[in-house]
Amino acid sequence: MSATQFQNYLASSWAAVLYLAAIGAGGYYLCAKHALLGLGNFKPTKEDYQKVYNEIASRLEEDYHYDDGSYGPILVRLAWHASGTYDTETNTGGSNGATMRVCPESSHGANAGLDIARNFLEDVKTDSFPDNDLLIYEVAKFPWITYADLWILGGVAAIQEMEGPIVPFRPGRKDRDSTFSPPDGRLPDASQGAQHLRNIFHRMGFNDQEIVALSGAHSLGRCHPDRLGFEGPWTYTPSSFSNQYYVMLTSDFWKVRNWDGPRQFQGSSSQTLMMLPTDLALVQDEIMRPWVEKYANDSSLFFHDFSKVLLKLFELGVPFEKSTERWTFTPTQA
Ligand code: HEM
Repeated sequence: MSATQFQNYLASSWAAVLYLAAIGAGGYYLCAKHALLGLGNFKPTKEDYQKVYNEIASRLEEDYHYDDGSYGPILVRLAWHASGTYDTETNTGGSNGATMRVCPESSHGANAGLDIARNFLEDVKTDSFPDNDLLIYEVAKFPWITYADLWILGGVAAIQEMEGPIVPFRPGRKDRDSTFSPPDGRLPDASQGAQHLRNIFHRMGFNDQEIVALSGAHSLGRCHPDRLGFEGPWTYTPSSFSNQYYVMLTSDFWKVRNWDGPRQFQGSSSQTLMMLPTDLALVQDEIMRPWVEKYANDSSLFFHDFSKVLLKLFELGVPFEKSTERWTFTPTQA
């Protein structure tokens, strides 16, 4: 090695050492920051949760190209699928655990597409900053909140921000590993009828009126052919919570859609709207139909009953500590 080569070698070694030291220091800084932000004895207050709520709310419409301009509906679906696996008999499943973070639950057929909602909420929890195209720093903004609480808070915020009722929230869910994942098949199959809905929802501890009230969440969002095969929205205002789902169910004539996809229904006058076989089952069943009619005629009754039953759904099987209270968060538009 010549003298010049040796000098270059020394210079590049020092550069490498300095570079590694900088990374180390950066890592130390971030760890220290995380510790300051969230670990230790930090006890989040209602105000801390309201900050997370506000962050979710501020991002719901950040991409107007996404679906109907809001991530709200898919956040509601995530919170429901996290909770709707509950089984009263074995006290398993439910929103405690956020076990859909990982396989096998993340790849259960019923959860197709929900990675979008999980990634949305990941970005709420953690900010990423590119640094000179070499490293990506991740800074946890809300390191103290569990995914299990975050997903439910996402559902609460989405409902409230899309002009729905106030839904109380109680923190205390823990994140658990895949050994706590519920078996596949606990969520409803949209191609079935009323008896299937009873099997699924009675297992969670709901009665027939509650099945009808919960189904009103289909006033929001739409079906995506690339997720579960079905296509289209249930209402004309899929980013706004309302009792329109029941109005459409009772006012239109629904016929089987003639298409190359799974069996679904198309309105005779509302041609662009759709209903799933399980939606139509509510008007075909003599016990559930009167509730569909009540909610179609009385929006306040629906809002009241929906808030109550959604709270029940979100708390199924969660072993809350006695000291925790239910909080209500102020909608950002209030
Ligand atoms: C009654 C049994 C139910 C069945 C069979 C069912 C089925 C479905 C299906 C097939 C989709 C379309 C998914 C996609 O293609 O993206 C969907 C979407 C949705 N479901 Fe349900 N669901 C049921 C109950 C519920 C409940 C109880 C809630 C909430 C409380 C809910 C909230 C939603 C929302 C908000 C969407 C729209 C998601 C989006 O726009 O991305 N569903 N549901």
